[in-house]
Amino acid sequence: MESIYGPFQDCLYRVMDRTTEELKEYNARIKEKTGEGIYEHLSTRIKSEESMREKCARRELPVNTHSALAVITDAVGIRVITRFIDDIYEIAAFLRTLPGTEVVREKDYIRHAKPNGYRSYHMILKREFPFPDAEGNNPGHFYIEVQLRSLAMDSWASLEHQLKYKKDIPSRDLIVSELKRCADELASCDLSMQTIRNLIREEGTV
Ligand code: GTP
Ligand code: MG
Repeated sequence: MESIYGPFQDCLYRVMDRTTEELKEYNARIKEKTGEGIYEHLSTRIKSEESMREKCARRELPVNTHSALAVITDAVGIRVITRFIDDIYEIAAFLRTLPGTEVVREKDYIRHAKPNGYRSYHMILKREFPFPDAEGNNPGHFYIEVQLRSLAMDSWASLEHQLKYKKDIPSRDLIVSELKRCADELASCDLSMQTIRNLIREEGTV
C-alpha cells in the first residue's frame, strides 16, 4: 500500500529536522549565556501511517495525502520538555519569531487545564519551506504540532495516556480522580519551583 504521505515523506522529515535544529541552536545560545539550557529535552515524531489513516477516518475525511498534510495538522510533532513553567512561554515566544512561520492555533492547557488535569502548551505552526506541498504551492506550507510541557506535566501525561488503552478497569473512577489530584499537586509544585528559581535569581543579582 502506498504511503498516506505520498511523495512527501522526506519533506516531513526535513520540516521536522529543520525546526528541531532551530530549537537546538536557540537552546545552545541560551546555555552559552546563562549556563543553563531553556529546555530539558525534546522529542519528535512523524505520525504513523496507521494513526494518520485512523484519524482521517475518525474525522470523516478522505483517507489521502491532502487530508493528512493540508487538513490534519499534526503529521509532524515536536514535544519540548522544560524544567520550569516560564521556559515554556519563552520557547513559545521564540517559535513565533521563526522565519516563514505563522501560528495558526494555540491552546494554553496550563492556564486552562483540561478537566482531567492535563496541562501543556500546544501550538500549531504553519511554516514555509523551499519545496512544494500537497496543495501544489511552491514554496510549500507545512504544519507542525508543538507541545511544550514541564517534566512534571510530561510524566503525568504519559501515565494518564496509559489509561486510554485500558478497557474495563473496575477502579477507573478512582484512578481518574487520583490522576486529577496528582495533576493539581504537580501544578502547585511547578509554581513553587518557578517562584524559588525567581528568588534565587533575584538574590543572585544583588
Ligand atoms: P487530537 O485530535 O487528539 O489531535 O486533539 P485536538 O485536535 O483536540 O488537539 P489537542 O491540542 O487537544 O491535543 C493534541 C495532542 O495533545 C493529543 O494528540 C495528545 O498527544 C495530547 N493530549 C491532549 N489532551 C490530552 C490528555 O488529556 N491526556 C494526554 N495524555 N495527552 C493529551
Ligand atoms: Mg494529535
